[in-house]
Amino acid sequence: MKVVVITGSAHKKGTSALLADKFMEGATEVGHEVFRFDAAFEEVKPCLSCDYCSAHDSNCVHKDSMEKLNGELATADMVVFATPIYYYTMSAQIKAVIDRFHAKNAIFLGNKKAIMMATAYGDADWTMDGLDKTFELMLGFLNWKNAGTLYATGCPAREVIEQTDFPKKAYEMGKNIK
Ligand SMILES: Cc1cc2nc3c(=O)[nH]c(=O)nc-3n(C[C@H](O)[C@H](O)[C@H](O)COP(=O)(O)O)c2cc1C
Repeated sequence: MKVVVITGSAHKKGTSALLADKFMEGATEVGHEVFRFDAAFEEVKPCLSCDYCSAHDSNCVHKDSMEKLNGELATADMVVFATPIYYYTMSAQIKAVIDRFHAKNAIFLGNKKAIMMATAYGDADWTMDGLDKTFELMLGFLNWKNAGTLYATGCPAREVIEQTDFPKKAYEMGKNIK
């Protein structure tokens, strides 16, 4: 299976990056092809809703890192998001990537699976509700299948998440994707 992993934190060694690393470790171990896109270290301009794309064969007016990601997404069987929780939803870096799907909706629609992984300081049982609802609605719109979620609550920093079983769960998730 071809998998695209999109991360959304500026912490290269942060909590959500650890989940992405472990997921990729599991997935590559069993032979999946994985392409990783670290949104915080790429140039991704926000969608302008200018609809240049609808008049220009799905090409975006912006010329930036999305050009290399779009080709990978078009042929991906699965898309995995790994984001820190910022104000009860995904980070701006990862949201900017998703908004830019707009230009390619016709190409990306249907026939993909998706996984959402997220980390948060809070440990209340509703900490991930905002993100989870967004994920559900987004999948409905894109007609992608929900292949699972991994929500690491109570994880403000690397040294904390390393003491939990979330990294192992991410690894197992990667190993067991179908
Ligand atoms: C701008 C900002 C907003 C945040 N908002 C929340 C929040 O709404 N709920 C929460 O539990 N944690 C929140 N956090 C904490 C992060 O989600 C948490 O520290 C996470 O582990 C960071 O992930 P990273 O190491 O991958 O960057 C916020 C952190 C920042 C910097």
